[in-house]
Amino acid sequence: MKEILLELERRRAEARAGGGERRVASQHAKGKLTARERIELLVDEGSFEEFDMFVEHRITDFGMADQRVAGDGVVTGWGEINGRLVFVFSKDFTVFGGSLSSAHAQKIVKLQRQAIKAGAPVIGLFDAGGARIQEGVDSLAGYADIFLENTLASGVIPQIAVIMGPCAGGDVYSPAIMDFIFMVKDTSYMYVTGPDVVKTVTHEDVSHEDLGGYRVHAIKSGVSDGAFDNDLEALTQIRRMVDFLPLSNREKPPRRESFDDPEREEASLDTLVPANPNKPYDIKELILKVVDEADFFEVSEGFARNIVVGFARMDGAPVGIVANQPQVLAGVLDIDASRKAARFVRFCDAFDIPLVTFVDVPGFMPGTKQEQGALIRHGAKLLFAYAEATVPKVTLITRKAYGGAYDVMSSKHIRGDVNYAWPTAEIAVMGAKGAVEIIFRAETGDPDAIAARTAEYQSRFANPFVAASRGYIDDVIKPRETRKRIVKALKRLEHKVLTNPAKKHDNIPL
Ligand code: HXC
Repeated sequence: MKEILLELERRRAEARAGGGERRVASQHAKGKLTARERIELLVDEGSFEEFDMFVEHRITDFGMADQRVAGDGVVTGWGEINGRLVFVFSKDFTVFGGSLSSAHAQKIVKLQRQAIKAGAPVIGLFDAGGARIQEGVDSLAGYADIFLENTLASGVIPQIAVIMGPCAGGDVYSPAIMDFIFMVKDTSYMYVTGPDVVKTVTHEDVSHEDLGGYRVHAIKSGVSDGAFDNDLEALTQIRRMVDFLPLSNREKPPRRESFDDPEREEASLDTLVPANPNKPYDIKELILKVVDEADFFEVSEGFARNIVVGFARMDGAPVGIVANQPQVLAGVLDIDASRKAARFVRFCDAFDIPLVTFVDVPGFMPGTKQEQGALIRHGAKLLFAYAEATVPKVTLITRKAYGGAYDVMSSKHIRGDVNYAWPTAEIAVMGAKGAVEIIFRAETGDPDAIAARTAEYQSRFANPFVAASRGYIDDVIKPRETRKRIVKALKRLEHKVLTNPAKKHDNIPL
């Protein structure tokens, strides 16, 4: 028996060594941790149990018969984050560059199926060179099997991808179907085809970083939901985010004891909105002053900064926050902001996380670039997402709520449950100046008449009381009382029941 146990230990040690000392040293020299080191940092100490440690590939072509490494380039298993179950796979770049063989894919698929059954998130740590080139079509089949499970798991369990090295070719589409993609700055990049193929096809000379680094995806394309300085920070932040999420759509989001008084008032909010309606202010100040312990996990911080989304807690219960940011492009809704917020709203609705929306929006972004880029279709995504959402929806208009954007931003008309406004709110078809220029075009030669008309329009519509008189706004509240009013509304909506008509699935404007 002793010898059998020793043999087990020998085999385990061999698997844990991955691609060997030289490749591990090269991984460290690039500022990257190994697949197993990453898992240790991600989950609670001692909680990880590995599956399929002895799986090997079955290829014999290209001299692969005598090149087998136990585990075959991916570490899979389950562990806990703050005592809650998660399933993890972590690509091992030291073994065939983390590339995907059929055996490697089967390990991931097995994990995905277990996670769906058990009802717990999947977290994938990516660091790999795409399809195992020696394997051919079996590798493509393996990818498709993973994509299918990603799709079936969508809306059932949270799926989080962290890109911690190369993520190329077939590897990009699994993260793309998942709920969130985070990157590590400077060591990670994602693209469908690499610089060599780009050079052949389009004759462009481009670096890995310029083609698919975090500056591309976390700022310009919005493919990534954020980027962190290094592996350690990324993994620590993922632990923080998981704390806000339910393990699956079968349970409520996790409540936590709050040490922040639900009745807390913030006098400084009374002066947050500047007297001049064209002056910006930072909506994040409002968010941080209203949520529990100023703890806000912002998602997609660098992309479409004219809208802010992220997770927080109100009196211990997780909420999704969506807020126009007057500091960037005056908080206008454009293509990117609509896409970003729509995805976030749908995630929250799928996982029963109530939505708190802060509105200060001058409308949709005008211009040929936006129209040609399908602003109509993309703007409709956000409208659709809010309209179909059945979770509790609490909305507060701080200042501007103009035009179609008023309707879109969780208005009463698309089933906002509780809609508040500050006394500084202006709910109108458009700003007074623009409105007067259209409806009193004949008077444009007379500045005094225009000024008088503008003042008249302003006093009629630049307040929340017309909307409140129609019942579109439930109450006009004092800014300092915002936290306690929202906490109370959410508590009273806790057992809200609302269902949409039966259907196979909807047809969100993609
Ligand atoms: C097999 C691979 C591999 C792959 C890397 N390796 N990629 N082995 N299949 N796809 C191996 C290397 O041979 C090397 O082995 C080790 O991993 C490290 O690779 P290096 O090239 O030395 O590392 P680095 O310089 O850091 O470059 C990383 C890289 C590069 C940029 C990812 O390896 C690369 O370009 N790989 C190929 C990427 C690719 O074209 N993949 C196929 C995409 S097509 P040794 O033994 O020396 O350590 C695809 C289609 C699927 O994925 C579509 C499904 C829908």
